[in-house]
Amino acid sequence: MLADLALIGFGNVGRRFARLLDERRDLLSHDYGLECRIVAIATRRHGAVCDASGIDALAAATRIESGEALDSDFRGNAIDVLSRSTAALRVLIETTTLDIESATAARQHVQLALEAGCHVVTANKGPAAFAYRELADLARRRAVMFLFEGAVMDGIPVFNLVRESMPTVAIESFRGVVNSTTNHILTAVEEGANYEAALARMQQAGIAEADPSLDVDGWDAAAKAAVLANVFLDARISPHDVDRTGIGPDIGEWARAATGRGCRVRLVASGVRGQQPVVRPVELPRDDLLAGLRNMANALILDTDTLGRVVISQLDGGLIHTAYALLSDLLTIRRQADRAR
Ligand SMILES: NC(=O)c1ccc[n+]([C@@H]2O[C@H](COP(=O)([O-])OP(=O)(O)OC[C@H]3O[C@@H](n4cnc5c(N)ncnc54)[C@H](OP(=O)(O)O)[C@@H]3O)[C@@H](O)[C@H]2O)c1
Repeated sequence: MLADLALIGFGNVGRRFARLLDERRDLLSHDYGLECRIVAIATRRHGAVCDASGIDALAAATRIESGEALDSDFRGNAIDVLSRSTAALRVLIETTTLDIESATAARQHVQLALEAGCHVVTANKGPAAFAYRELADLARRRAVMFLFEGAVMDGIPVFNLVRESMPTVAIESFRGVVNSTTNHILTAVEEGANYEAALARMQQAGIAEADPSLDVDGWDAAAKAAVLANVFLDARISPHDVDRTGIGPDIGEWARAATGRGCRVRLVASGVRGQQPVVRPVELPRDDLLAGLRNMANALILDTDTLGRVVISQLDGGLIHTAYALLSDLLTIRRQADRAR
């Protein structure tokens, strides 16, 4: 089955996804009968390129990494190119920057693609954090999928797990450490390391948001809390409705004092059905599961009506995790296409 893909956003995640697709090409073809062709790549400042017969995405990635722009003659719209495709699957891969004000551009990309009858996969928290219900309803009406597995726990399945393996289970609340950058900083400063140096390491690794204040001010965690609340608790909120406190350079003193008391400070995101979600640094006793999370480790505890507390954890992170989430969503679409036949 042929899948035509349009990539809007071709930064750290988009380029890693293009490479992962190439690395897994034989496996996708052999085990899943899926042939992927990238027909459009669009960025904000680095140009765009389209070719209905397929783009060499690796060459495009190398071009951007060497400081060049993509084909500046292309003025078309990546979603138009995708919507004209006759491939069995047409999928928008949306990996633009998180816009915490309103996510307007990303929401428009998702909405236009869904309206055109294309599936959407995104690692961007914005669309589900600001407009989950309307976009999910639109996808249902157009009989396509709107998937965002990479938006909260990178590649570790949260939404897939609940959707596929926990049917009829209701989630009453969640609590977790969901931001790798702040967890790395907190682990470093509690051991006496420098706050700024720890943040710089996350920026160099491409893990911190393009604007790292989104991580340390708690916006990234608030956007994730909004996604979790919208999807699992049927909230209709945006990240601005989350009660949010971030961390700053002065957190080191508290983190070291807490360690001396046998505790740990962690940035915790939590939500309870019918209540305002909260993101704030919390001093946790050592035996709290979240206290044991070090460096880039994340964990999410779901309180359910049937299975008690379900814990999802990833002990390390990296760009490949997020790229894998996009690939995993693509395969969910591939499987769904088989079921629909
Ligand atoms: N990095 C991670 O580990 C990670 C993990 C989970 C989720 N995410 C999410 O994944 C998304 C991408 O992250 P990233 O690290 O790849 O970011 P990034 O390196 O900053 O790349 C963002 C890309 O989006 C493009 N872009 C931004 N606004 C656009 C617009 N309006 N139209 C078209 N293109 C636009 C940028 O183009 P220019 O470069 O030309 O401006 C760039 O190609 C973000 O939403 C982030 O929150 C990232």
